[in-house]
Amino acid sequence: MEINGKTRVCGLIGNPVEHTLSPMIHNTLAEILGHNMVYVPFLVEPGRVAEAVTGAKALNLLGLNVTVPFKSDVIASLDEIDDLAGNIGAVNTLVRTESGYKGYNTDMEGLYRAMTGEGIRLDGEQIILLGAGGAARAVAYLCAVKGAERVYMLNRTPGKAQTVAAEVNRTVGREVILPMATEEYGKLPEGKFLAIQGTSVGLAPHVDDVIISDDSFYEKIHTGFDLIYSPWETRFMKLTRAHGGRAYNGLKMLLYQGIIAYELWNRVNVSEMDARIVYEKLKGCFIDAD
Ligand code: ATR
Repeated sequence: MEINGKTRVCGLIGNPVEHTLSPMIHNTLAEILGHNMVYVPFLVEPGRVAEAVTGAKALNLLGLNVTVPFKSDVIASLDEIDDLAGNIGAVNTLVRTESGYKGYNTDMEGLYRAMTGEGIRLDGEQIILLGAGGAARAVAYLCAVKGAERVYMLNRTPGKAQTVAAEVNRTVGREVILPMATEEYGKLPEGKFLAIQGTSVGLAPHVDDVIISDDSFYEKIHTGFDLIYSPWETRFMKLTRAHGGRAYNGLKMLLYQGIIAYELWNRVNVSEMDARIVYEKLKGCFIDAD
């Protein structure tokens, strides 16, 4: 692709940004779809996200992705926010408007598209959610708005799960999130569950770590979805598969959060065929990918 006077710029603001796969997603899409757009990483110092957004506006950047540690702090710099992102309290995508930027949370839309694509449903489901941090909080809200019957939120620090559950339940107007301490997993009701792994435990290089290692826990899981994609197969996924469950990593969530951002910036729909091309390219970054 030739960069010229009409090239539009998008990018990622975060700290760190060196290991991001987002440029691969967006620049591949721009190439396939013939859009005159380029996507680059921008390292932003802590405390300077507001300046970064002001600068982006002055430079007329088409859009930005936002990553750690700015997903909540960036909200103060927006002039509009999508409902889902506002309720989650985290924004990962900024879209240029006439007056500034509108914030979206394509992480959760991306997770939902990834799950739907694998035939995983949330409505009417009994779900186990591991974690109560920023990521798990967003997943809890997604499950609640998509009609999950009950979400058992297990966390090392039960007080945090209680706070998150109360907030999400209040927002959606029903008692759908049930907070528990992780070691109370033996008290989960009978039945088979969709389990979503939303903690950072098991992330490379600590690939042998897992929140719960007890076999009896994995007997309860029909499908395990780990938000982690590095390593390709986490210990949580291995244990789920070893007990007959299906297991997925978070790479398709990463893929679709990018695709949805790209769709918002360029006002297009990306086909599943094009999504597959980008996915295969991303997969190439993982030596142990199956
Ligand atoms: P993120 O934004 O990625 O969700 P976070 O907000 O720091 O990150 O949340 C990290 C999550 O992983 C939390 O649920 C945390 O549990 P606590 O609330 O008890 O801290 C969980 N977590 C991180 N390291 C953990 C560990 N070694 N054992 C158990 N849980 C862990």
